[in-house]
Amino acid sequence: MFKRVAGTRDILPEETPSWQRIEKIAHKTFSLYNYREIRTPIIEDASLFSRTLGTTAEIVQKQMFLIRNQDDTYALRPEGTASIVRGYLENNLDKAAGFTKLYYLGPMFRLERPQKGRLRQFHHVGCEAIGSQDASVDVEIIALADQLLKNFGITGYKIKINSLGCSKDKEALSLSLKECLQKKVKELCADCQQRLKNNVLRVLDCKNETCQKIVKTACPDQRHLCPDCLEHFEKVKNGLNNLDIPFELQPLLVRGLDYYNRTVFEITHPGLGSQDAIGAGGRYNNLVRQLGGPDLGGIGFAFGVERLLLASENLDEKPQKKLVYLITLGGSAKLAGLKLLNQLRKSDIACDTDYLNKSLKGAMRAANDAGASQVLILGDDELKKNTITVKNMSESTQKEITLDNLIGELKC
Ligand code: HAM
Repeated sequence: MFKRVAGTRDILPEETPSWQRIEKIAHKTFSLYNYREIRTPIIEDASLFSRTLGTTAEIVQKQMFLIRNQDDTYALRPEGTASIVRGYLENNLDKAAGFTKLYYLGPMFRLERPQKGRLRQFHHVGCEAIGSQDASVDVEIIALADQLLKNFGITGYKIKINSLGCSKDKEALSLSLKECLQKKVKELCADCQQRLKNNVLRVLDCKNETCQKIVKTACPDQRHLCPDCLEHFEKVKNGLNNLDIPFELQPLLVRGLDYYNRTVFEITHPGLGSQDAIGAGGRYNNLVRQLGGPDLGGIGFAFGVERLLLASENLDEKPQKKLVYLITLGGSAKLAGLKLLNQLRKSDIACDTDYLNKSLKGAMRAANDAGASQVLILGDDELKKNTITVKNMSESTQKEITLDNLIGELKC
């Protein structure tokens, strides 16, 4: 028997209501903030990601699912932001509006070592606001992330924020980190020794505990922001305070992707174990220009849907099902029943029947297993009288009514 690919999951019918709930809340909340949905392909030119996320980013170096043919190398998208900005430019959305708010839902692919909350195919629900560098957009984006979590019913999360500053500030940060980490180079993992040479900021994302400890002790508070970036960050913090959104400052939060500058943030949840980031995002003021567009700022975030579901595991999400189950007894009733199902569906009543020719007892059990709220029993005798029996499953009551009154009865 074939097995699914490691790090991928089948989302089974028991689980899809929770997914649909997340999707429904996302559509509603994003539209309240005037975001419109965009759907981009799951395959892109691989260089779209290597150029924007950075050749030293872990995602690019180790985690891209690559598809090669004779002339081109494609990648299954490891994240949404680069694709969205590519789509935004390719479809001239920059020319249609000065400021564009987009959201997306869909699968992403990273060749990671699978574990709880870490998959090779996972799903993002995210958004991008492109066209403004104003700090009030940073505030709205973080407020939107917070509102989404509240609407999903998730509590106990922490919003951690930092500012990387502009390109010059990032260079200054890299230099000072290099200086303090150089003294500990031999204690760093082999990857970080390499990162120290190629892109020292990536050392801060290393999952190795020793490296994390070294970073925390060897590199205390970094003060690298220029006056403009400092002012921007102050506005973001004041804006969040103004909206009563609690946050923690995390001076060593840099995020693993090169496109970020200024505000970066990560939202963690204690119920997720070692993979505790439920979502993350930040500003990318150079990305649009880097992909050949005008000099426009952008900011966004993405939540991992699987992690949202893990964090909301204890929520009672039993869907209120209203299913009508028809049991027919006899050849004429079976034929009439199929017609009846058609009429019920046309009247927006969800219904099903027994296709295994079970006995009345077996069919009742099937109705129960299907979660039916009402069972209809139609025999050849009833058909002759133009009546049908309606059984209410939760109240264990039943009555015989005329077939002409059935739709009205079921709808009330
Ligand atoms: P990211 O931090 O790489 O950011 O991913 C966002 C979220 O996706 C993570 O916080 C986590 O919840 C989830 N996630 C990431 N990798 C996996 C995985 N292997 N398995 C399960 N869940 C995972 C981005 O991708 C940026 N594009 C976010 C962004 C949007 N920044 C600006 N705009």
